[in-house]
Amino acid sequence: MRLVTALYPGSFDPVTNGHLDLIERGSRLFETLIVAVLRNSEKEPFFSVDERLDILRQTTAHLPNVRVSAFDGLLVDFAEQSGAQAVLRGIRAISDYEYEFQMALMNRRLAPRLETVFMMPAEAYSYVSSRLVKEVFRLGRSVEGLVPPLVEERLRAKLGAARRAPAK
Ligand code: PNS
Repeated sequence: MRLVTALYPGSFDPVTNGHLDLIERGSRLFETLIVAVLRNSEKEPFFSVDERLDILRQTTAHLPNVRVSAFDGLLVDFAEQSGAQAVLRGIRAISDYEYEFQMALMNRRLAPRLETVFMMPAEAYSYVSSRLVKEVFRLGRSVEGLVPPLVEERLRAKLGAARRAPAK
């Protein structure tokens, strides 16, 4: 058996229980799993990269072979810099597949020896996305069970502060 280091890249704005489920599965399969947060993915992210790194570090602290980093530029270049041989991505539904397949093949063209491995999160999270979590929370409903309690806390703190700020 080879000891494989894998990268699990994404925006993680914010990390959901679906992401965490995949991180746990990946940490059981790979020797080292590096959760890699893309900088500059959205023009207006909800959480800064530093906030996302902090949340990810706290919520994966119980997994000794999981590291959390940020990256810029091409994923394949970050994989090379960090000595990763594989990229882990989650597929929740067939609708994810087309985009993931395209990305995996482009990454293969750029780095032929870097393998993409797809894993499925638990079915309970098959409809959970960071985008929907933010939307539901912004519009006043609970996201309990969809994100870790720390994310709920941070969402509340951020939106509470925004709502208290005087309108410009
Ligand atoms: O959580 P996301 O937003 O679906 O993650 C997308 C991500 C970060 C994996 C993807 O946008 C990415 O790898 N971006 C880095 C730039 C890059 O390498 N682009 C070419 C990919 S084919």
